Amino acid sequence: MSTPGPLEPEFVGKTYDDFLFRPQAGVAESRRSLSLRSRLIGDLGLELPIVSANMDSVTGADMANAMALAGGVGILHRALSIGAQVEKVRQVKRRHGHVVEQPLCLPRSASVREAREFTRQHGVTGLLVEEARGSRVLAGLLSHRDLPWSEGDEERPIEEFMTPFVRLAVGPPGIGAAEAERLLFERRVEKLPLVDDGRRIIGLITKRDLMLSRSRPGSSQDPKGRPLVGAAIGARGDFLERAAALHEAGADLLVIDIAHGHSRAMADAIAAVRGRLEDVPLMCGNVGTAAGARFLAERGADAVKVGIGPGRGCRTRLETAAGVPQLQAIREAWCELGESVPIVADGGVKDDKDVFLALVCGASTVMLGSLLSGTDEAPGRVIEDPRSGEKRKIYRGMTSPQAVLEALYDEDEESVESALDTPAEGQEIQIPYRGSVIDILHRIQGHLRSAVSYAGESSLAAARARVLPDPRRYLIPLSDAARRESFER
Ligand code: XMP
Repeated sequence: MSTPGPLEPEFVGKTYDDFLFRPQAGVAESRRSLSLRSRLIGDLGLELPIVSANMDSVTGADMANAMALAGGVGILHRALSIGAQVEKVRQVKRRHGHVVEQPLCLPRSASVREAREFTRQHGVTGLLVEEARGSRVLAGLLSHRDLPWSEGDEERPIEEFMTPFVRLAVGPPGIGAAEAERLLFERRVEKLPLVDDGRRIIGLITKRDLMLSRSRPGSSQDPKGRPLVGAAIGARGDFLERAAALHEAGADLLVIDIAHGHSRAMADAIAAVRGRLEDVPLMCGNVGTAAGARFLAERGADAVKVGIGPGRGCRTRLETAAGVPQLQAIREAWCELGESVPIVADGGVKDDKDVFLALVCGASTVMLGSLLSGTDEAPGRVIEDPRSGEKRKIYRGMTSPQAVLEALYDEDEESVESALDTPAEGQEIQIPYRGSVIDILHRIQGHLRSAVSYAGESSLAAARARVLPDPRRYLIPLSDAARRESFER
C-alpha cells in the first residue's frame, strides 16, 4: 500500500480538531465483529491499537497489565532504578500466561507443616516437590488435596503424600498450549510440570491458566500466553544496562524515548543497543518531521514515535517554539516511510475521534497519556478534596520539576545537578478520577469501530488502506464556525 510522496499542503499547520471525516456508504454488518488489528512493531500486532505512555503517572505494572488484557500494550516508565523497573516487567509477566516459569518448589524432605505454610504464604493450591532443596530435579507434585487432615501428621515429610514422578503427567520444555491442553485432559489432571531430559524443572502449566488465557482471545500475549509489555530505556546513563536487564526479564519491546529523537544522542543510543541486543524490537522517538522519521528508520528503529510537543503535560512548544502540529507530524512521517516502519502517534489525543484520524493519516498505533491517567490502574493515589469531595489524580509531564526530582533518587550528584540545570518542559496537573481504565479502553474501542464503519469498511486495516494514499479525499477542513458546531458542547 506504500505510496509515500511529499507531504500534502493541506496538512501543513493542521492537527486533530482541524478536520472531520466525510462519512462513506457503510458495509459493516455488526460493529462488534469489526477488527481493529494493527501493527505495533516487528511481528507484533495489537487487537486494540492503543499504547499507554511511558510516564510515571500513567504506566506501571497495573496499567501495563490492563492494557494487555484489553488488547493494547503498556510501556513501563523508566523514572526508577533498573531493579525496580525489571521487577515491574516480571510482575506483568507473572500475572497470567499459561507457563509458570519459576514454579514454587519444596524438597521431598520438607514437613507437612512447612508445605501448609508455604502454600498459604504464596496463595497457591499445589507445589512441585524437588529431590533436594535447590536441586530443581522433579520428585513429585503435592496438591492441597494431598495434605493430611490429622494434626498428628504435621512433622511428616511431604514425600509420603505427594504424587511421585513416575505417576505424573509431564511435558517437554517448549510444549504449546494446544498440546498441553490435550495432555491435561487425557490424564484428567490440572497441573503439567515441564521438565528437561534430566528431570530438571523448566516450568509448569496449569489448567486454570490455560482456561484464563483462552477466555481472553483479544488480549495481547507473547508466545507463552503472558501479557505483552514494553519498557522505556532512555539514551543516557545506565540505558544500556537497563536495556539488557529489561530484555532478560522478558520485555517484548524497548523504547528509546528522548525529547529530541532526531539527534546524535539517539543515533549513538540505537547503535549501542543494537550492538548488545541485536534483535530486540526497538521503538524510538520522538520526532516530528519527515527527516526525523527517516533518520530513525535508517538507524534501525523498528517503530518510529512521532510527537514534538502535543502532549497535555508538555510545555515544549510554549517554552522553545519547537514543535509540529500533530496531524501534520504523523502525515509527514507516513509520507516519508509509508508502511515500511510502523508509526506511533504520541500525544495530543483529547477525544476518541483523534485516535481514528491519527490511524487513517499514517499511524499504526496511538500512544495515550492524559486520556488514560486519573484511572485506578495509573500509578499514584486518589486525592479527595475535603470540601467538594471531588476525587482527582496527578498527571505530569516527565520533565516536570516534580517528575525529574523524584526520578533522581538513585542518581549520582553530577546527574542530579545536570538535571536540575535543564529547564523543565513539562508540567503537573490534576485529572478528575475516572475509575477503571478498562472502561475507557472499551469506550475507545467502540468509538473506533464506529469510525471504521463510517469510513465504509469492515476493518481498521481496510479503512487505513483506503484512506492513507490520499486522506484529502476523505477529510473536510473545518472553518471556525464548523469547529464550534462540531466540538463545543
Ligand atoms: P498526552 O497528550 O496523551 O501525551 O497526555 C502524552 C505524551 O506526552 C509526552 N510527554 C512530554 N512532552 N515534556 C514534553 O515535551 C514532558 O515533560 C512530557 N512528558 C510526557 C510524551 O511523549 C507522552 O507520551
